[in-house]
Amino acid sequence: MSETAKLTLEGKEIELPIVVGTENEKAIDISKLRGETGYITLDYGFKNTGSTSSAITFLNGEKGILRYRGYPIEQLAEKAEFLEVAYLVINGELPTKDQYDAFKKAITNHTLIHEDMRHFLKAYPRGAHPMGIAASMICSLSTFYPESQDSNRSEEERNLTIHRLLAKLPTIAAWSYKFSQRHPVVYPQNKYDYCENFMHMMFSMPTDDYTPDPVIAKALNKLLILHVDHEQNCSTATVRVVGSSQANLYASIAAGVTALWGPLHGGANQAVIEMLENIKKDGGDIDKWIAKAKDKQDPFRLMGFGHRVYKNFDPRATIIKKSADEVLEALGVDDPILDIAKKLEKIALEDEYFIKRGLYPNVDFYSGIIYRAIGIPTEMFTVMFAMGRLPGWIAQWKEMRENGEPIGRPRQVYTGENERDFIDIANR
Ligand code: SDX
Repeated sequence: MSETAKLTLEGKEIELPIVVGTENEKAIDISKLRGETGYITLDYGFKNTGSTSSAITFLNGEKGILRYRGYPIEQLAEKAEFLEVAYLVINGELPTKDQYDAFKKAITNHTLIHEDMRHFLKAYPRGAHPMGIAASMICSLSTFYPESQDSNRSEEERNLTIHRLLAKLPTIAAWSYKFSQRHPVVYPQNKYDYCENFMHMMFSMPTDDYTPDPVIAKALNKLLILHVDHEQNCSTATVRVVGSSQANLYASIAAGVTALWGPLHGGANQAVIEMLENIKKDGGDIDKWIAKAKDKQDPFRLMGFGHRVYKNFDPRATIIKKSADEVLEALGVDDPILDIAKKLEKIALEDEYFIKRGLYPNVDFYSGIIYRAIGIPTEMFTVMFAMGRLPGWIAQWKEMRENGEPIGRPRQVYTGENERDFIDIANR
């Protein structure tokens, strides 16, 4: 295969190098396009544009393949622990037992947040959205550890920030919930593993002896693993661009949290449940809502359906759907919302509109069903997504910085007014 692509512009032909990845993905390297032709490319939403090369996650939208550092998501979700997968994506290899023990110990020792940060939580208005709290609390961590603001410091300093982030996000998430309930916060306990500790901080009360349910802990572990990374999605691309200015890791992750909040991205898991509840409230007329989703005049979209890359099934949705059945059965939960979700999925998958556009359930379609069953409030669903995605954001930020990538600064095509002179207000 030719190593270059030939482009003829205004009678001049230029050759552009072809890049081929380890899974035979192909790209045209246009780094010299503007310099040689004065032209840039234009690609709204970057649907055809790669911003980088990465060794972290491989996905194939047509075949429904997802692998972290080469390991299939199906195996990791079934066999691994979340922190093991976090270590894998961040460091490139599965940890040995000693490496894993040291990693877990480092994280366990950083689960507390500075007591002064409780004042922030106290100051938020009742009903403050936990994603707004998470983004600002994560960015605020950089002010409590000012040495982290120089992101060029030692690798040891960088690892300390990585451990602090992984350790403190569950505490921030659980404490924002306790504050929203006006309940006393529950401090992390070193005797618990990552998921059990989060459940303990979320659900235990001073008035009872709470024991984390192993069924819930297992489901949480699987959900977090399924969200760990997903190549250059909206929030990960945001983390990389913010980090490319050499902004510190806390600030870059906070930017990722804000990008994830959008209902077209990570906010979809909250929007799915709200949509299913609306359909139920509306009498369960699924055909009506499917018609709304297909109507170009109607802004309604089927939340949890469709994906930029998966034009076939999202492998994560397949695993989560199975897990939803298992968790609800194990917990003896009969959720009418799940029945509506399954009916909606069946009808949509047989509808030409969805089939023609490759619209299938994505990771967000069923995850909310499980979060609901284990007692996570709907507004915290996207925070759960952020907790799962945190290792992926860290890994991608680290890869971008270690590769010395340039500051992200896209070009544009100007479509505004041509030059004109200022007019005094008296003459306007
Ligand atoms: C995540 O990128 C990632 O990897 C993201 C993610 C991750 O792990 O990081 O996987 C997590 O964000 C999953 C997606 C969650 N979002 C939703 O569930 C919201 C609903 N989905 C849509 O908004 C949409 O499908 C997107 C945003 C997910 C993808 O949109 P694209 O790729 O920009 O596609 P598009 O908007 O151009 O849609 C193509 C066509 C359009 O119709 P036509 O103009 O061709 O007639 O499909 C239609 C769209 O109107 N369409 C839908 C639809 N999604 C797309 N129609 C009805 N309902 C939908 N959900």
